[in-house]
Amino acid sequence: MKGAVKADTILCNAKIYTKGRLMDGGIAIKNGKIAKIAKEPNLPSAFSRIDLNGCIALPGLIDVHVHLRDQGRAYEEDFFTGTAAAVSGGITSVMDMPNNTPVTMDSASLKERMQTAQQTILANVGFYAAFPERLEEIGRLIEQGTLAFKLYLTTQIGGVDINDDEALLQAFAEAEKFGIPTAVHAEDKAAIDAASAAEQRRGHSDVNAYLKAHTPDIEAKAVKRILKIIRKSKAQIHFCHISSRETEVLIRESRRTGLRVTCEATPHHLLLTSSDLRRQGMILLTDPPLRPEGTTEELWKAARSAQIDIIASDHAPHLITQKTADSVWDVKPGIPGLETLLPLLLTKINEGKMELHDLIRLLAENPAKIFHLRSEGFLEEGYNANITVVDMHRRGRIEADKFHSKAKFSPFDGWHVTGKPVKTFVEGRLVMDEGKIVAKAGTGRILRSQINV
Ligand code: DOR
Ligand code: ZN
Repeated sequence: MKGAVKADTILCNAKIYTKGRLMDGGIAIKNGKIAKIAKEPNLPSAFSRIDLNGCIALPGLIDVHVHLRDQGRAYEEDFFTGTAAAVSGGITSVMDMPNNTPVTMDSASLKERMQTAQQTILANVGFYAAFPERLEEIGRLIEQGTLAFKLYLTTQIGGVDINDDEALLQAFAEAEKFGIPTAVHAEDKAAIDAASAAEQRRGHSDVNAYLKAHTPDIEAKAVKRILKIIRKSKAQIHFCHISSRETEVLIRESRRTGLRVTCEATPHHLLLTSSDLRRQGMILLTDPPLRPEGTTEELWKAARSAQIDIIASDHAPHLITQKTADSVWDVKPGIPGLETLLPLLLTKINEGKMELHDLIRLLAENPAKIFHLRSEGFLEEGYNANITVVDMHRRGRIEADKFHSKAKFSPFDGWHVTGKPVKTFVEGRLVMDEGKIVAKAGTGRILRSQINV
């Protein structure tokens, strides 16, 4: 196009998911941003061109629930391997959980974590923090760039007493003053502790004992408690990995009464059941655990009908030795998911279980809206050039031993998939091409809250 400023790169011969539909054309990228989306003749000239061979360009997917570990737990995962896993799975941005060593819970620990991350990240990374002991520190954490807070009701992490409703309300309200949401792992600690102790007294140490100590009721109890606490506030709460219909209905009804509440589901809760856990063993142990047959279908329905807002991996890498103890009480719950999430969901789109626009809502648009990532989530001019390119027809098999993650195991190992991410662009740069990492460590950006503090 004459007179237009030269772009850095043109992605041509693409089907582009923009404004809710697929459009044939190309994307011009300049300074890491989308400069233009148009049919070929209307694009500016560029220094380089990349042919997408008719593949689909999606807004870069955002995984809002990831444990990147590193620092004191780098033996499980580090920022390089975790973000390599993300981009090879077609995910351009992740949000890192705070249950680290040290726990991310004050501006100093967050700053250190950000500095460590910046050296090696390949994807964009934003950070959750646990609540600090002193309320004033919440503002400092936000100033340092935390995107959200994370509250574990299963275990005491961070400085606010998880048994103190009033203290929790104050913490939620303080975060909300800055427009920052709080994500909640909703399972009631006292109920889990009592049921686990009872099972242990009976000498039970198999997966059935764990399931009895982590029932859907225990999840619902924690959700009800939080909904009650925030009843008269404007606090924005996001429930992580909900695993039952009862919880989903509680959340749905609370929204009708005006509460600012959203929720997420994981691919493993959508695709696996407690029977799979019993059959395949402890590597499927996760918290909350897998649920009986029937629940998966209810979660799918809720995800398709936008009652579940987000799908997130809850990528939780562990050493294989931590997953294979004899007693369930010694096994670390958690499943790595960054490299399986998208191929599994593309397969479900091919099977007619969900639509492409559901995927984009659940993994790009809603994550960007809920966590206030204003330059992400959409392929439109002016947005950051984070782009996931997928080939819907590519067939393959999930091979956990080839993961970039240090956690080379998966409940989905050996599953056949149709649909694969083939290229991932982060801030305009190609970082993954046909499964290979092709960018330098440090290419990713730290995502900071864009809230005025
Ligand atoms: O399964 C889980 N794994 N649930 C959690 O709450 C923590 C996570 C982890 O950090 O491994
Ligand atoms: Zn988690």
